[in-house]
Amino acid sequence: MTEHLTIVDHPLVQHKLTQMRKKETPSGLFRQLLHEISMLIAYEITRELPMTTERIETPLVEMDAPVLKGRKLALISILRAGNGLLDGVLELIPSARVGFVGLYRDEETLKPVQYYYKVPDKLDERVVIAVDPMLATGNSSVAAIDLLKKSGAKNIRFLCLLAAPEGVARMKEAHPDVPIVTASLDERLNDVGYILPGLGDAGDRMYGTK
Ligand code: URA
Repeated sequence: MTEHLTIVDHPLVQHKLTQMRKKETPSGLFRQLLHEISMLIAYEITRELPMTTERIETPLVEMDAPVLKGRKLALISILRAGNGLLDGVLELIPSARVGFVGLYRDEETLKPVQYYYKVPDKLDERVVIAVDPMLATGNSSVAAIDLLKKSGAKNIRFLCLLAAPEGVARMKEAHPDVPIVTASLDERLNDVGYILPGLGDAGDRMYGTK
């Protein structure tokens, strides 16, 4: 992908996103919509995957038919809200390998601290798609991508539902080689790091926690 930021402005994505933003949308519907949107964004983020051909036989003739090239993709969920995007993307790419990155924010240093990390092998040979619904300050996304690069990942894309300009700028500064694909670039962060207009806390809205 060449663009640093791609906004998926497809009408279905935008309509579903509006339903998700509404404060009265219940958790079950919120998760269902996130699942549906994740497939549509995944379609866009995989548009330029490397291809090759395979010699096959149809019932009539032989042909060189297009297939995906190289090792299976790696999908990395940034916990916990990343899991809301994971299943939809996996439905589209069922053979993908899956990893998880768990980070929490140290309340004193405000820096992300790793509490879980498990990723597929040979990340350096795979297209890696990191998923997290909200790109807010960018701190945890940048830290997660730092870890993936330490594990050898070279070809990383970032899939999110909403992005704030602050998070996009932070990612561009730290990881200019990582394209971001999102459903919306919102206005800004509020003073506690929530995206405005946003949709609230994605994890809480998915799982009914507060
Ligand atoms: N994380 C969320 O879940 N929501 C925001 O608005 C920002 C970060």
